[in-house]
Parts: sequence; structure tokens; C-alpha cells
Amino acid sequence: MNIDIELLKKFEDTINTINPENGEIPIKILGFGEISLVFEIINDPTHLAYKRIPIFDTEKQVKKHINAYNEYCRILEQELKFNLPDHKAIFFRDNKEKIQFYSVQAKVDPDSVGNKVIHHISDEEVITLILLAIREMKKVWTLNKDNPDLKVGLDGQISNFAIMNYNPTSLTIDNNTKLLYLDTSTPMYRINGVDAMDGELFLKSTPSFLRFLIKAMFLQEVLDRYYDWRLVIIDLVANFFKEQKPEIIPKLIFRINQYFKEEAPEFEMAPLTLIEVQKYYKSDKMIWNIFQTARKIDRYIKTKLFRKKYDFYLPGKIER
Ligand SMILES: Nc1ncnc2c1ncn2[C@@H]1O[C@H](COP(=O)(O)OP(=O)(O)OP(=O)(O)O)[C@@H](O)[C@H]1O
Ligand SMILES: [Mg+2]
Repeated sequence: MNIDIELLKKFEDTINTINPENGEIPIKILGFGEISLVFEIINDPTHLAYKRIPIFDTEKQVKKHINAYNEYCRILEQELKFNLPDHKAIFFRDNKEKIQFYSVQAKVDPDSVGNKVIHHISDEEVITLILLAIREMKKVWTLNKDNPDLKVGLDGQISNFAIMNYNPTSLTIDNNTKLLYLDTSTPMYRINGVDAMDGELFLKSTPSFLRFLIKAMFLQEVLDRYYDWRLVIIDLVANFFKEQKPEIIPKLIFRINQYFKEEAPEFEMAPLTLIEVQKYYKSDKMIWNIFQTARKIDRYIKTKLFRKKYDFYLPGKIER
């Protein structure tokens, strides 16, 4: 994979984290997460998706993270036969000597990403798509079941999957559809209970005045969530509230419970209920809102009062 680091340095030099699309290097935002900004560079002949994760202070931290990233991708691709886009993790020092980390992937068609796809297919196909995602996950939790010393985590949200060989003119989802998994920039695996990545680094995006509180209250819970198949699925299903498709949730729950009875009885999964999905969604929404508000205050203090650079991109109001 050919990555133009000089171009990324120039991008870092002129980035405007409030309006990233208005910087000197023309980019288009493809997505964003709690800490990452995912974008393409306009007219980039290499068709790459760049995930910028500005949380590292030392080379030791970033090198450890890249090793964990490579191993996580290796486990997913080689041991679990996941389909990943071509990928590479890199870091460099920008012109201010600050470490910048990027997880770079071959770009997929934005319309092929799950959270877009679900708005263009029938309910039956949405259910099929969710089952395809859950069958991918089964490979992870089978490995976890069979290995006492290695545990692999996964973020199963539908926005982390894309349709392989996507054809916009004839989009149909059936049991032969293949999925790509996109969200590999947070390497989630544990060897003998020790996390491969440093979870505390992810607090870098939280305002310092809240970090202590968040660490005490949520960090372990959030890190553990991705290792618990049931919670990962609840998170996936609850997302349909955010995607404004709540009417499909009861059908999804019914079909998922049937799946566990018929296709994965060895996991003895307790049936999901609508009430717990609703409850999860409410608390998740509340945590997210508190977090976003705190970050906006933090950004204001840093940029307006102290005239410093704010490293993270904060999305505008998100319909939830
Ligand atoms: N290779 C890609 N090609 C096109 N779009 C992508 C690609 N990778 C990610 N995206 C878009 O960006 C969004 C966020 O990417 P991803 O899931 O990898 O990171 P994230 O959810 O921000 O991770 P985190 O929250 O862990 O920082 C995806 O849902 C998708 O819409
Ligand atoms: Mg994601």
C-alpha cells in the first residue's frame, strides 16, 4: 500500500478540526467515531480511507499500538477468516514534532457500509444482514470459547460492516452476501487477561476535568462490553433506534433468539428482550450526550480561552 506521508504531514499542518473539510488539503469525511476522523483525500488516485487517531504522546505508545493493530488484523483475517479491506497502520512526526497515528484502509463505497445499506433494502433483507453479521461474530466467540488464554473483542455495530462486491444498481442481501469488517483501528484482544492496547489512551479524547470520573465510572465497563457477545448484539440492535428504524427491533430480537436456539445452542445465550434493548439505548444515549457536551465545553476552553489547538473532531448534532 502506497501512503503519501508528506501529504498527510501537510494535512496535519493545515487541519482545521472544527471544519476538517475546509483545510488546505481537500478532504471528504467518510465517518467518525468517539476519537477518530475517517476521511478520503479528494482526487486521491490511491482510493484510501484515512483514520486519524490523535491520542499518542510517545513512540513507545504508538509502536505498541501498531503491533497490537497488526496482530488484531492477523487474528481476524487469518484465524477467523474475516474479510478486511487492504490496510496499514502508520505513524509519523508532524512538522511540530507531534506524533500522528493513522490507520489507513482501501476505501470502500460509502453506500456499501451497513448503516447506509439498511435504509435501501427490505426488512427481510435487514434481518438477513444482521444474521450475516452475527454469523461473522460467531467465529470470534467460538475462538474465545475454545481458548482459555486468548480473548478477542469486536465492535459489532452495523456501521462497521460493508457489503463485499457491492453493486449499487442491484443491491440485494441474501445468505450468500459477503461482509467486510472495517473497524480494526482499536485492537481488541487480551492474552491471559492483559489488554493488548492501553485502554487509558482512549481517555485522551475526554476533557481532563472529566477523565478521572469517566475512568472510575465507565472505562472498564466500556472496554469489557466488546468481549461480551450478548452486549455486542444488544448494542447492534439498539442502534436501530438511532437509525430511526425502531419498528424493526422486535422482529430482529425474535430472529436473533431463534438463531441462538437453532444455530448456536452451545452458547446457551439467554434470549434478548425488547425492554433491555430499550434500557441500554437510553443509558447509552445519556452517556453519549453528557460526553459530547463536556467535550464541547473543553473545546471552547482550549480554543477560545487559551487559543490552543483542539485535536479532536466533534460532530454536529446527531439525531438519536
Ligand atoms: N475503508 C473505508 N472506506 C470507506 N468508509 C469507511 C472505511 N472505514 C470506515 N469508513 C467509514 O467511517 C466510519 C467509522 O469507521 P470505523 O468504524 O473504522 O471507526 P470508528 O467507529 O470511528 O472507530 P472508533 O469509534 O473505534 O474510533 C464507518 O462506519 C464508515 O462509514
Ligand atoms: Mg465503527
